[in-house]
Amino acid sequence: MMSKKMADAINEQINAEFYSAFLYLSMATKLEDMTLPGFAKWMRVQYEEEVFHGMKLLDHMVERGQRVHLRDIAAPPVEWASPLEIFSEAYEHEVKVTEMINNLVRTAMDDNDFATNQFLLWYVEEQVEEEDNTSTIRDKIKLVNEMPGGLYMLDKELAARTFTPPPAGA
Ligand code: FEO
Repeated sequence: MMSKKMADAINEQINAEFYSAFLYLSMATKLEDMTLPGFAKWMRVQYEEEVFHGMKLLDHMVERGQRVHLRDIAAPPVEWASPLEIFSEAYEHEVKVTEMINNLVRTAMDDNDFATNQFLLWYVEEQVEEEDNTSTIRDKIKLVNEMPGGLYMLDKELAARTFTPPPAGA
């Protein structure tokens, strides 16, 4: 049986994942406005990933017989000055999400909630990838920023990203 504290914390995380989705969708539209369709495509895929993260938590709550409390999703920012600012902020956001996931794991361990702890390990691994993806793109932008056509080439590279849902049970 999941404790109320654990269920409340997971409900909060569901909201945080959907906020992340909104944040990245807003970033995608700004990147479209900057005429960087490949960057925008990457961010749209990131939006889909965040919806997947939220839904995976939601499904776990349902499976464990817990009520899901969907709450208001805060409005994300709309304006950024550059792709570098966007990806720097995306990385900093992922660092915060990692801390939230770590706190969830701590709560599960304090509760001796082995099932939730096991379930959350997927998110622990996912956050390593999330931080790596955003920091790598941030660093690539820094590298190409001084090169003529560098941003254009990076835009072509990022356009290749597609969303592939992990297999059932993953
Ligand atoms: Fe759901 Fe980007 O972490």
